[in-house]
Amino acid sequence: MNLKGKTILLTGASGGIGSAIARQLAAEGASLLLTGRREQPLQQLINTLYGDGHHYVVADLGDPVQRQQLLDAAEDVDVLINNAGISDFRLLADSSEQDIQRMLATNVEIPISLCHSLLPLLQQKNEAAIVNVGSAFGAIGYPGYSLYCSSKFAIRGFTESLRRELADTQVQVHYLAPRATSTEINTSAVNELNRELGTVTDSPERVATELVDLLQRPSSSSRAIGWPEKFFARLNGLAPGLVDGALKKQLPTIRRYARLNHQN
Ligand SMILES: NC(=O)c1ccc[n+]([C@@H]2O[C@H](COP(=O)([O-])OP(=O)(O)OC[C@H]3O[C@@H](n4cnc5c(N)ncnc54)[C@H](OP(=O)(O)O)[C@@H]3O)[C@@H](O)[C@H]2O)c1
Repeated sequence: MNLKGKTILLTGASGGIGSAIARQLAAEGASLLLTGRREQPLQQLINTLYGDGHHYVVADLGDPVQRQQLLDAAEDVDVLINNAGISDFRLLADSSEQDIQRMLATNVEIPISLCHSLLPLLQQKNEAAIVNVGSAFGAIGYPGYSLYCSSKFAIRGFTESLRRELADTQVQVHYLAPRATSTEINTSAVNELNRELGTVTDSPERVATELVDLLQRPSSSSRAIGWPEKFFARLNGLAPGLVDGALKKQLPTIRRYARLNHQN
């Protein structure tokens, strides 16, 4: 897809990965409709973007009225990027009913609902695309992340189904699975755990470059970022017992940081 002149709705634009995606898409000549809950970072971002014709809508997408206000502003969108999301490094035993609902509403219900609402519009376009941002944890169930993993497994399954459902249309459906990335979604306990386990952390710019490259491809595709993560995702599919064994060894460390995270 040629991004020049395309109108792109990007959720989670006030966050780390979202703002990097916005900068790279604007540099490619796209017009952006940005959204997030906090106005100040959206305002700051829009002031620094290349080109003009960019807009933002402040919306908590968990609120159906605010979600509709965003959709009302998205009357000419060619591309939807579902990037908004939350994470919660917390043992299930320490999670509340509200934690469960919030995770599934934000990471699953909102992106699916936006795809559903915008599909009729996207199907009228000569060229259109959807990108759903998942995670390496959408292919590997990880201790301390059972709610987050459930949500990212769900959005991966949804994206795969939708891609196959729209395979004979002009709407491309992509899935991007970043690994650990340096943004505010990760608390200090998460960063310390990643350091102790030697988990590589990418920059948001790296993720944005991969996403833009995915969109510029001629056909729908799915991409995971990072070699060990890709390898472990495959191994998990083929021989989950091996991954069970490796993660069991890490369990005391993971539990310690999950409890630390929960206390702060
Ligand atoms: N960073 C990582 O390690 C990592 C790894 C794999 C995948 N990912 C995925 O990458 C995506 C972006 O994450 P990030 O790292 O950039 O995190 P981030 O900096 O915390 O940004 C999250 C974004 O989502 C928005 N958001 C959250 N709940 C929302 C709601 N109810 N309504 C509207 N917007 C909402 C936030 O808006 P406000 O800030 O304005 O509230 C923010 O713009 C997420 O889907 C995440 O799961 C991240």
